[in-house]
Amino acid sequence: MASRILVTGSAGQIGAELVPYLRQRFGNDRVVAAIHKAAGAALLRAGPVEVVDVSSAEALAKLVKEYAVDTIYHLAALLSATGENNPQLAWQVNMDGLRNVLEVARTNGVPKVFWPSSIGVFGPDAPKEMAPQNAALNPTTMYGVTKVAGELLCNYYFLKYGLDVRCLRYPGLISSEAPPGGGTTDYAVEIFYEALRTGSYSCFLREDTVLPMMYMPDALRATVMLMEAPRTEVRLHSGYNLSAISFSAGEIAGEIRSRIPSFKVTYKPDSRQRIADSWPQSIDDSVARRDWGWRHEYDLSKMTSDMLSKLDKRMNG
Ligand code: SER
Repeated sequence: MASRILVTGSAGQIGAELVPYLRQRFGNDRVVAAIHKAAGAALLRAGPVEVVDVSSAEALAKLVKEYAVDTIYHLAALLSATGENNPQLAWQVNMDGLRNVLEVARTNGVPKVFWPSSIGVFGPDAPKEMAPQNAALNPTTMYGVTKVAGELLCNYYFLKYGLDVRCLRYPGLISSEAPPGGGTTDYAVEIFYEALRTGSYSCFLREDTVLPMMYMPDALRATVMLMEAPRTEVRLHSGYNLSAISFSAGEIAGEIRSRIPSFKVTYKPDSRQRIADSWPQSIDDSVARRDWGWRHEYDLSKMTSDMLSKLDKRMNG
């Protein structure tokens, strides 16, 4: 049987776009979309879909054998704000899931694994501007704790067992396809929906909050670039810093307002402000640019135009 790619968390923020992207590249049948609940299956039916709980190593191993999997994109995880509301569950899903995937890969001869890390690895002591690849990693959220521990575990599996695990520290991701799903950076997704739906938005972060962000087409390209880079070019098996654009909540609101002049935004910071304040405002990703040639394409203006036109088409036909 031809080998296949397994993607966990296929109905989530990254998976909902990565699965169609990989299927377009490699063929529908070659990409198995694993989801946690059958409810997320509808949009993934172009190829194989399986319901699996990543906390069951047996269930994962069964899938890996059944489909002769040779690459796993392990995306199933809780994001930062959801994780802060239930830290025990965040540990269980994010860490137990990753350990199971790495073990199943190792014991079943799956040579390659992708795992998403995040800007959440950084804590308040990291430089706010251009946080470097080797900044101290002292996160103050459970999400960040699981991302730092996860990076160390990925690197351990590379060193100890030669498993080719590759990781990116994604900035906040903005998708026209996947709805917001419990992240602190998700205000920058919600704001587009509300601009078109109601013409106003109540932002849960302060107007001057600056965070590193990326439009999903760039994130998909970065993911596949890293996974296809020759092994000799991939010098890091923990997480590569990855960046594209940084803007404040006020700046993205202004960018939308320049296209929808009546758009109104109010700012009511909630508990997610503390999470945002613990993260850097921009990231130095020169190591990724040097090692495997990363370049982003979308700036704030190009992303805003594309988001508004895609969402408008979908919402208003
Ligand atoms: N987008 C993520 C979050 O806000 C950060 O990696 O949780």
